Amino acid sequence: MTMDYDALYKLTHGLYVLGARDGEKFAGSIVDAVMQVANKPWVIAVSCTNSSYTKECITKDKEFSLSVLSKKVAPFVVANFGFQSGRNVNKWEKVDYCVVDRLPYLKDNLATLHCKVLQEVVFESNTMFIAEVLSCANNQDEEALTYNDYRTYFKKDVLKSFEEMKKGGETAMTDNEVKEKDVKEVQKSEKNDGKHWVCTVCEYVYDEDVPFEELPDDWTCPVCGVDKSLFVLK
Ligand SMILES: Cc1cc2nc3c(=O)[nH]c(=O)nc-3n(C[C@H](O)[C@H](O)[C@H](O)COP(=O)(O)O)c2cc1C
Repeated sequence: MTMDYDALYKLTHGLYVLGARDGEKFAGSIVDAVMQVANKPWVIAVSCTNSSYTKECITKDKEFSLSVLSKKVAPFVVANFGFQSGRNVNKWEKVDYCVVDRLPYLKDNLATLHCKVLQEVVFESNTMFIAEVLSCANNQDEEALTYNDYRTYFKKDVLKSFEEMKKGGETAMTDNEVKEKDVKEVQKSEKNDGKHWVCTVCEYVYDEDVPFEELPDDWTCPVCGVDKSLFVLK
């Protein structure tokens, strides 16, 4: 049996802004892993990355909101909620939102759901919240944005918006991404003293995130195909 992970992208989902509460503050992130699992009572499942601040808030507060996104949503909304962590920035103050029953909702939504966690299923990477729908509203008849829309045409506009956010001086990376990137940059410059590994055959300069020393023995130059032993530090 093969494991071609692209198969998992064929499981289609919608896209949502998941809202949560942290005391007097709000948290929120983009999620696609949402499905209805029962209608007696009305129950849905939402899967959150364990490192997400929104996940942390839901684990504490046991309630969350969902705003269903339409195909007409501004790419900024996905960049704002999906590409940076609420630990660094108040994402909600950058969008039009309202608060109902303690929780934040995007004003521009197709539908909204207010949910109470019944159960948490914890995996190494994610936590699945199984939650009862306490109330819900069907607000617009536009078409829902799907995860497939995001992957096939919407992502490029989201990335453009993310670049604009970065130019505006805001951190648009999640905590983990920032930390990982910083650590890698420091490791690289400390180890190699500003030098680069260069192929002695074709002059290809290795500049990837994985340190050259940690590449497997059978790694070969992506340009001319010679092995690691023909690289020198310059
Ligand atoms: C298209 C898209 C789909 C995403 N789907 C999920 C998801 O289903 N679950 C999840 O936890 N994070 C998902 N994310 C990632 C979070 O939105 C992202 O990690 C966010 O920065 C977390 O913010 P927080 O730390 O403030 O919670 C998705 C991001 C994008 C752009």
